[in-house]
Amino acid sequence: MAGVSGCIKYSMFIFNFLFWLCGILILALAIWVRVSKDGQEILSSGDADVNSNVSVNILIAVGAIIMILGFLGCCGAVKESRCMLLLFFIGLLLILLLQVAAGILGATFKSEYDRVLNETLYENVKYLSATDDNAKAFQQALAEFQEEFKCCGLVRGAADWGSNFQQFSKSCECPEMPDDSCTVYDGKYVYKQPCISLLKGLMAKHIIIIIGIAFGLAVVEILGLVFSMVLYCQIGNK
Ligand SMILES: *[C@@H]1O[C@H](CO)[C@@H](O)[C@H](O)[C@H]1NC(C)=O
Repeated sequence: MAGVSGCIKYSMFIFNFLFWLCGILILALAIWVRVSKDGQEILSSGDADVNSNVSVNILIAVGAIIMILGFLGCCGAVKESRCMLLLFFIGLLLILLLQVAAGILGATFKSEYDRVLNETLYENVKYLSATDDNAKAFQQALAEFQEEFKCCGLVRGAADWGSNFQQFSKSCECPEMPDDSCTVYDGKYVYKQPCISLLKGLMAKHIIIIIGIAFGLAVVEILGLVFSMVLYCQIGNK
């Protein structure tokens, strides 16, 4: 019978060795962020404390899974172990299936997501004219966004800022050259466009990046499935 193809064996080995290293790196980084004091400070800046803890935990899980799969694929290929290759295949297949399921769910709930995002943004308008600490953080974030994206206010324009307008008017102000993307509000020359459509556009861009990464990953995963299956069969035929 034909033996084991060296090409497939060593590509499996090299790629999975790289994955294994990546997994260790992600795991180490996530654990460092979780444990170290500096990391804690990075996490607790802003008020997304709970949220970022969750994402670090997810990162730890992802790092561990990549490390284990990389190890199985790498060792399975070198030692020509059918058992390890089979475990690798099953693990990878499960991940691919989960990814497909997440994609289908995501596509199904896309319009729901758009509605919730829109409602949340409309809800948040009230923070612009408020004075408590939570509102302050939001105001600061929007002020920076305004300056970068040349917009003012969230949904109605400068009026959203209410009595806080003068305090944040600087980030709304147009440069000297008056043009028709600007308007006068409360004695200041400010951007006419509210930030909501720009925020939505930014979210959409992030989602497209995530979809792109997911498709790229799926291709790599399918290659891994094919290679491990071929190797598994070749070892069986030896
Ligand atoms: C967003 O929500 C507001 C208020 O709930 C609503 O008036 C508006 O039509 C919605 N816009 C979109 C694009 O769904």
